[in-house]
Amino acid sequence: MSTNTSNTAIVRVQRFNPDDDKKPYIQEYSLAVTRDTTILDALHEIKTHQDGGLTFRRSCRHAICGSCAMNVNGKNMLVCNTPINHHLDGKGRVTIRPLPYLPVIKDLVVDRTSFWEQYLRVKPWLIPLENVPDKEYRMSPAEVAALNDAEKCIMCGACYSACTVVGTNKKYIGPHALLKAFLRVLDPRDAGVDERLQEVGTGEGVYRCHTIFNCIDACPKNLDPTKAIETLRGLAAKRQAYEASKQARQQTLTEPVPVKE
Ligand code: FES
Repeated sequence: MSTNTSNTAIVRVQRFNPDDDKKPYIQEYSLAVTRDTTILDALHEIKTHQDGGLTFRRSCRHAICGSCAMNVNGKNMLVCNTPINHHLDGKGRVTIRPLPYLPVIKDLVVDRTSFWEQYLRVKPWLIPLENVPDKEYRMSPAEVAALNDAEKCIMCGACYSACTVVGTNKKYIGPHALLKAFLRVLDPRDAGVDERLQEVGTGEGVYRCHTIFNCIDACPKNLDPTKAIETLRGLAAKRQAYEASKQARQQTLTEPVPVKE
């Protein structure tokens, strides 16, 4: 006998259509859910059977693409891998809003222009060395560990729109882009350390972070943008010395690295 019985959820969704509405409002929908129903499943159910006008973003449904980040009961998260029953209150209600601090295009869809502009500002791609050797590069386990899983960021925007600094200052580079800058600055294969540290080592970069840790709480991949920002702050303060040490390391990039037991 299946134990996956259903219960009723009251899904409260912030609605806003700029063509018709003067301001956002909350609309409630009632539907049957089970322990396997994700919040995204519930939104699909509502859109398919109750209200075809409900608008939200999603793509992969596997916590990979980052497009389904929303604010659930006041916390940013991916809704495609979040069981709805985990977020129902005592009356069976959950409240879903768009990501905060970003302009709403419609319902749960926000305009991420500032998010992407700041991302491009740090040149998120790897800047290659001038004389690329015809051999593979060798990174040590310690060098990989120092990246602190930053490469796992899926650019969902949960950290960016949880940041109160972003809420008041869209010139701030933001935790997502600073995490990407950290990834490149620490990568021994990257040749752009000096320009990167100059870009982030300003009042619009690492010195604007207030160390409130909202970005850590919001990250669905358990990454630590605050620690990355603190590391960048330290490296920006000794930029030339760090660049020299990195250039010295780049001379040995193709040599085998000793693996410590
Ligand atoms: S739909 Fe892709 S991360 Fe949720």
